[in-house]
Amino acid sequence: MAERIDGKIIAAQVLEKVKAETAKLVGETGLQPGIAVVIVGEDSASQFYVRSKGKRAEECGFKSVTHRLPAETSEADLLKLIGELNDDDTIHGILVQLPVPDHIDDGKVIQAISPDKDVDGFSFVNVGRLTTGQLGSAFVPCTPAGSMVMIRQALGTDDLSGLSAVVVGRSNIVGKPMANLLLAANATVTIAHSRTKDLPAVCREADILVAAVGRPEMIKGDWVKPGACVIDVGINRVDAPDTEKGYRVVGDVDYEAAEKVAGSITPVPGGVGLMTVAMLMASTLISACRAAGKEAPTF
Ligand code: GUN
Repeated sequence: MAERIDGKIIAAQVLEKVKAETAKLVGETGLQPGIAVVIVGEDSASQFYVRSKGKRAEECGFKSVTHRLPAETSEADLLKLIGELNDDDTIHGILVQLPVPDHIDDGKVIQAISPDKDVDGFSFVNVGRLTTGQLGSAFVPCTPAGSMVMIRQALGTDDLSGLSAVVVGRSNIVGKPMANLLLAANATVTIAHSRTKDLPAVCREADILVAAVGRPEMIKGDWVKPGACVIDVGINRVDAPDTEKGYRVVGDVDYEAAEKVAGSITPVPGGVGLMTVAMLMASTLISACRAAGKEAPTF
């Protein structure tokens, strides 16, 4: 039976370090890390994420502001707010929750955020830093960054030399940055996706299998190489009429089957999802350290 990689425990370790390093930064420089989260519209999953970001930020000792804008907010007004946050010295991290409503160009919004405050790591500058291996100055997207922390803990090493990694999914938020982080850690990386031929066979080659496709329980037990480290990024709601809420949350991996084959595996819920917010706090602290001219901690 696979070892369960517990997001609750690992995220709590990250948050403890963020808290301690924040207290140290404030003590030494008087500078308090500040994060601004912007949400446009009423999407209920997004509202949930945004609330948990605000809560965690306060627990870490940050200044935390949340801008809740109505769905009909114009692109120009959103860009103006981002400009103001870029110029605000008390804010070190800016996050615009995606998706934004259709009448707003998300590409324009992402590139409007100062790369020095882009704690999501979505701007061209930060994507370029990551892909050229300049991890010391990059902001790295939070979900892949959190997945890497889990992989390093599960395998007990920072160096993935000789290991094959398969990332299923090629999104800009998870798949592509995940592949680049694995590559930077010396893994041999394949990015698979909906057009990949014989996906099960490709997955079976993976010592590290990262599922980020957004399809409930798509990855079956017999797609998993015995002993592999399986990271399930999926968060999917499926109907469950027999439960109080009427739905269940499952990952992209058939957990029950995969845990019989894998060496280690993240559950859903209770896995990668908890790491994402913790890594956002880590990135905001790192940004504040850079602004203060202090060496930033690593996570
Ligand atoms: N929506 C889903 N994931 C993310 C994320 O990592 N950052 C932002 N800004 N929006 C998201």
